[in-house]
Amino acid sequence: MKIFLDTANVSEIKEGVAIGVVDGVTTNPSLIAKEKRPFRPLVEEICGIVPGDVSLEVVATDFEGMVKEGEELAQVAKNAVVKCPLTKDGLKAVKYLSGKGIRCNQTLCFSAPQALLSAKAGATYISPFLGRLDDIGAVGMDLIRDICQIYDNYGFKTQVLAASIRNPLHVIDAAKAGAHVATMPFAVLESLIKHPLTDIGLKRFLDDWAKAGTKL
Ligand code: E4P
Repeated sequence: MKIFLDTANVSEIKEGVAIGVVDGVTTNPSLIAKEKRPFRPLVEEICGIVPGDVSLEVVATDFEGMVKEGEELAQVAKNAVVKCPLTKDGLKAVKYLSGKGIRCNQTLCFSAPQALLSAKAGATYISPFLGRLDDIGAVGMDLIRDICQIYDNYGFKTQVLAASIRNPLHVIDAAKAGAHVATMPFAVLESLIKHPLTDIGLKRFLDDWAKAGTKL
């Protein structure tokens, strides 16, 4: 499973890439707004740091506007992927942009029928939002499983990008369900690394080593 960082923060992205486990980045208008930097230089910098795909989201809500913005966003870098919301116009825009060879990430997916239509429209990625479903008492992971099964049944090439991930369990359950990608905040990536027994074990090894006075 690929790991993407869900952030527009350059320091976090640099740190994640330096660890060597980050394959891509997803941004959205809220994440970009948090950075308080002009859009174009910020996203150009992000695309330059990340080895894989970087999703950049349109803010227009009509078909013509999404297509215009999508064509501009696709020019930012070779690894730019255009993110369009899962609306009627968003589906039309994904169909159109994909037909022109522009890769799209269809975002704000909350149901299996939405995901089915997005695959038919030619999306490169579908982004079901796990955490936001859990927030309203639904089981977000069930949606990931349903989409993986439906795409598998018909051989759709659209990749399932588990989004709105809030904790390590989300990541592991998404991996078990067969999601191709999990996008997560930097804090969740860090929590995947940490284990208290690792820290305790390392301290014990180093204490024993220090007591012995041996050298490598
Ligand atoms: C996905 O691409 C979105 O940017 C993101 O995962 C939304 O997550 P949130 O529900 O934590 O805002």
